[in-house]
Amino acid sequence: MTAVGIDAIEIHTGKLRVDLAETFAPAKGESPEKYTKGLGLNASSFPDTYEDIVTMGANAARRLMERHGLSPSDIGRIDVATESAFDNSKPVSTYIAGCLEQVFDGDFHHANKGERKFACISGTQSLDDAYNWIKAGRNRGRSALVVATDTALYARGDAGEATQGAGAVAMLIDEDPDLVELSTEQGYGSADETDFLKPNQQFPSVDGKRSVQVYLARMREAVEDYESVAGDIHPEDFALLPFHTPFPGMVRKAAALAYRHMIRDTAIEEELADEIGRQPRFEAFDSDEAHREAMSEYTDRLVDTDRYREWYAEVVDPTLTVSREVGNWYTGSVHVARISGLKHALENDIDLAGRRLGVASYGSGAQAEVHAETIQDGWAEEIAALQVDEQLAARRDISFEEYERIHDVHNHDVDRQAEDVEEFTTPSGEFVFDGWGRMGERKYRFVE
Ligand code: CAA
Repeated sequence: MTAVGIDAIEIHTGKLRVDLAETFAPAKGESPEKYTKGLGLNASSFPDTYEDIVTMGANAARRLMERHGLSPSDIGRIDVATESAFDNSKPVSTYIAGCLEQVFDGDFHHANKGERKFACISGTQSLDDAYNWIKAGRNRGRSALVVATDTALYARGDAGEATQGAGAVAMLIDEDPDLVELSTEQGYGSADETDFLKPNQQFPSVDGKRSVQVYLARMREAVEDYESVAGDIHPEDFALLPFHTPFPGMVRKAAALAYRHMIRDTAIEEELADEIGRQPRFEAFDSDEAHREAMSEYTDRLVDTDRYREWYAEVVDPTLTVSREVGNWYTGSVHVARISGLKHALENDIDLAGRRLGVASYGSGAQAEVHAETIQDGWAEEIAALQVDEQLAARRDISFEEYERIHDVHNHDVDRQAEDVEEFTTPSGEFVFDGWGRMGERKYRFVE
């Protein structure tokens, strides 16, 4: 069977940076540790005045295509995953294709374009669509371009404001991929939930505390569903576990539950029993509540063991490094986690070829999906070509007053006055937003 998976990957971060401990926390009258320790975030990325989901996506895609010497005729499909779309009809992929046609010879007239929506999980769903299209033999030797791009902004004053971010991930899906092969096996956990939604509004309505519970509940279902097709999973199965990362503190909770699940009825549970006891079994309790409480106490003891800490430090923590510096990128977030973990391995001379990733995606509303990826021989070369640190370091730090201004610039309900839209950085070698056309369409141009 032909291997299908991610052949190449690129990111583009919003070019502004807000330091959460130094700038945001004091302005909000909050402790910096709530951000750095509680949520696990140091900074958020924001788009400059001339950036949006199209420019960020197109800039990531252009670098990917240039690096791999691709032309539009090599690509038979462009899917954009976003929950920040500004048009209910014309998909963002058409704008991104239009941008790319400005700088590459040829066109995408024979590429199928679309836009995927299911909150943050749609990036992974677009990978799925591309995988299925290639496996079905409909690609005519061409690759699929998947772009996950978002400006994850919350209304001013919303608790979610702490977890904002903006950026795009572009991925090339192909046969015999250089980076990772996707597993055929998948698990889903999906239910009609009201945790986070945008009913025809730009900023989300969020029940933050509930959204955390829904994330965990759907993820548990997805793991069980995955195990029903792939067999029980074990902590040693995966070199890294990239999760959807709205903020690293969320993953800290999810990882503890995942580990607890994986070690149940294994030698690890027995080895830890002297130190923390065995996991409470449901049958031993009179009520759900008593069982839940005992499980929660067991989990608290578990995460304090050396065994858990070592596993977390090796398999989960490396996937959070980039997220800590950029915040939530919604659809791109789990793909940033994959990059982050692989980048850490490269920097620490860990050879991952042939090892597996357990990828855990989530979208509010709500759905979780779990699948495995096998790391390919070309992974190190692909990750080495990314300039993540350079992009992060090149961002311009903004003050809280500047943050308030940029939030207004990107707020569709605030009229943009000429004096408000002065840019903070100077664009160079990238696509920029260039105003509106006669039918309300957005216009873009490439700045040399
Ligand atoms: N020192 C150390 N830790 C501190 C602290 C301090 N001084 N002050 C607070 N903390 C800790 C808290 O204990 C808490 O950690 P635990 O949950 O482990 O107890 C953490 O910092 C956050 O503090 P709060 O719970 O008080 O923060 P909050 O209520 O203001 O907001 C939130 C938290 C509800 C998650 C909010 O950020 C939010 O609404 N975010 C948007 C929704 C979201 O991201 N949900 C995640 C699941 S949904 C999803 O994944 C989809 C998506 O992308 C949106």
